[in-house]
Amino acid sequence: MSDRPLAVVTGASSGIGAAFARRLAADGHDLVLVARRRERLEALANEAGARHGVATRVVAEDLAQPDGIRRVATVVAEGPPPAFLVHSAGFGSRGLFAELDPATPRTMNLLHVVAPVELVRAALPGMLAARRGRILLVSSLGGFFTTARYTTYSATKAYLNMFVEGLQAELDGTGVRAQAICPGLTRTEFLDTPEYAAFKYQQVPDRFWMTAEAVVEEALASRETVFVPGRHNRWLVRAIQAPVLGRALRRALAAANRNGLY
Ligand SMILES: NC(=O)c1ccc[n+]([C@@H]2O[C@H](COP(=O)([O-])OP(=O)(O)OC[C@H]3O[C@@H](n4cnc5c(N)ncnc54)[C@H](OP(=O)(O)O)[C@@H]3O)[C@@H](O)[C@H]2O)c1
Repeated sequence: MSDRPLAVVTGASSGIGAAFARRLAADGHDLVLVARRRERLEALANEAGARHGVATRVVAEDLAQPDGIRRVATVVAEGPPPAFLVHSAGFGSRGLFAELDPATPRTMNLLHVVAPVELVRAALPGMLAARRGRILLVSSLGGFFTTARYTTYSATKAYLNMFVEGLQAELDGTGVRAQAICPGLTRTEFLDTPEYAAFKYQQVPDRFWMTAEAVVEEALASRETVFVPGRHNRWLVRAIQAPVLGRALRRALAAANRNGLY
């Protein structure tokens, strides 16, 4: 590595994580790129090196496996303190809890909760000693409300929002900042799975979708601890938290869920 600041990005092989990695490389950060698909990470590493002259380490690991989490945590703890720690690795799953393959919630809890908590714990001593750095954990609008068939997904994202709030209370005045970034519909590979093929996300009008790049720009510019990118998404969160409108909206969302819209 070098005297350039370091950014560690999980989920860097696609979508929001890849957009964070590209943007942070353009800003002159060396990169540690984490995901399972090594060839994608290597392609991104080559691109970042050629375009921006930054150094990149590819760490191809499965962050839903305790051993994989441990190995990545060791890379983070033993490396230079990151200027950015971004956890974007994640996946969606739709299904009634009692009918899910029991491996699915276990995998999701490991990837969405255990991995970021352990990576933050590994990075923090160095970041605190350096008195600088930003932790961005990619959460979801789903952390603010849930419906049938999204139980575990919403619960893991609500965990991240609460975790970051407590953490930021501890970090106040240290120079290190923690944020949960809660996107709504974002055009990535997230919904390109057989599990979602039958649902009607693509009928949602264009104005309700964001690009991964727009999510990243808003996230980097924000100072809110729990930040929702996109004005339409912020409106939805405010509306859902309002007493009367919120109840009506939750009922409408539950009906849309039962009817297979999402
Ligand atoms: N897209 C949306 O509409 C949306 C909305 C709200 C929140 N989010 C959140 O945004 C985050 C990023 O998702 P995305 O939209 O960018 O989706 P994506 O394009 O599917 O990217 C997901 C990333 O996670 C990595 N990943 C998945 N399982 C992994 C594992 N076991 N170990 C290590 N890495 C793993 C994938 O890489 P490999 O397959 O190479 O491992 C990929 O890089 C997720 O946490 C998601 O919950 C997305």
